[in-house]
Amino acid sequence: MQAVAERINQLGGKPNFDPEGLASRSASQYAEGENLVDMIKENLIAERIAVEHYRELIRYFGDDDPGTRVMLESILTTEENHANDMRDLLDAHQGEPARPRGIG
Ligand SMILES: [Fe+2]
Repeated sequence: MQAVAERINQLGGKPNFDPEGLASRSASQYAEGENLVDMIKENLIAERIAVEHYRELIRYFGDDDPGTRVMLESILTTEENHANDMRDLLDAHQGEPARPRGIG
């Protein structure tokens, strides 16, 4: 994520792009679904994990680093939209009736 790497640079740090250890540094998980509905479910779970992770980070930074918090809030909105999209896809493929829009 370029915005995060730029923010790390702005703060004098060095982003870690090394793919080695990427899985252990990831907040999410990787799982393969057997069919389309399972794949959508796995993606929905991953999006929800991302949403919760960004919420935790936003709480952590709070008022101590507003610049980082604002960047994370923008990413959170994107991840919430992804979760909603996956929820809508899941509903469509499971034949569920339309539901009110909410977070994933
Ligand atoms: Fe996402």
